[in-house]
Amino acid sequence: MSNSDSTVLATNLHRSSSGTKAMSILPVLNHRPMIDGHGRTIDHLRLSVTSACNLRCLYCRPGTGSSKCRSDLSDTQRLEFIEYLYEKRGLRQLRLTGGEPLLHKSIVELVARIRNAAPNLSLAMTTNGQTLSKFANELRRAGLDRLNISLDTLDPQRYESLAGGRVDRVIRGIDAAIDAGFPPPKLNSVVLRGYNDEQLVNLTEWAFERSMEIRFLEAMPIGPAADFNRRYFVSASEIRKILEDRYHLTSIPRNRGETATRFHASRSTVVGTIGIIAPMSESFCGQCRRMRLTADGKLFPCLLDSRFQDISPCWQHSAFQVNWANELIDQSIAGKKLTGEFQQESGMVTLGG
Ligand code: 5AD
Ligand code: SF4
Repeated sequence: MSNSDSTVLATNLHRSSSGTKAMSILPVLNHRPMIDGHGRTIDHLRLSVTSACNLRCLYCRPGTGSSKCRSDLSDTQRLEFIEYLYEKRGLRQLRLTGGEPLLHKSIVELVARIRNAAPNLSLAMTTNGQTLSKFANELRRAGLDRLNISLDTLDPQRYESLAGGRVDRVIRGIDAAIDAGFPPPKLNSVVLRGYNDEQLVNLTEWAFERSMEIRFLEAMPIGPAADFNRRYFVSASEIRKILEDRYHLTSIPRNRGETATRFHASRSTVVGTIGIIAPMSESFCGQCRRMRLTADGKLFPCLLDSRFQDISPCWQHSAFQVNWANELIDQSIAGKKLTGEFQQESGMVTLGG
């Protein structure tokens, strides 16, 4: 967009807020990629569809009670926003998250609607897997491409004390996903001292037997579990050392925007891929290509920044206002920091993992 375009937009936004209607008469530019103030193209969106969760992982939302949203966007609003990003702003990848996205009552329909509106969008979901066995087939048929599943331990008691749920359900969900024709899901394990740091090899072997990639995550000190995560933190270098004692690791070059440092791992006939996600000790912010939208419509340019834009004004004249959206997104990504600063009061349960 040229400077003169932005002046026109700014002027019209100003007029609009003072009562005259100006937005709908503005020309709509056909394609306007999202480039932040550091020259990074932003083409990934993490969309949280609910902040409710059926688990209470100690590193995310300790304590019981369900987390409820104030006022969620409707699926139609989500769809309009995604369609706009896909057609006009260069969106290439969308990841559905929560809370737990499978608790969203119309999740399968939402996937199908997104697929219909954006045929070439890469469409993934991160789930805790508790109810996945029920949904795997329908999700696949609706057009979901890939799944990431959180699994921090295979031990039923430890899983229960760490996450407050049943690990056998996750395992059933993984089996159902593979049966439904999904590519082998990626597993996410947050590593915590004394909780699961002795089980990394065990988890890896289990994942490799099913041809799944496993990723070990450093716990981030954000949201209500920040202190807990500092206390039980295990660094990427420690994680790597544990794995190197067992496997021969060879680095895989990192793609732009990829959060994990990935390795080919081998031990006699056992082979597979391991990722280590180290937001604390090996920041990957410089390569960032993503933004996040919460279930209630807050657009966060960065996970580690508490500033956000409320996107609900895009529907203030009932129909979706492309020009408002353009302005709002441009402002949001222009302020995207080069590196996150761990000043985040919200946890993953609202921000989307
Ligand atoms: N640090 C690192 N990873 C986290 N997750 C949730 N909270 C944190 C945190 N504080 C991960 C979970 C899940 C995804 C939704 O986010 O493991 O895979
Ligand atoms: Fe656990 Fe994810 Fe639920 Fe947080 S949102 S409590 S990480 S399952």
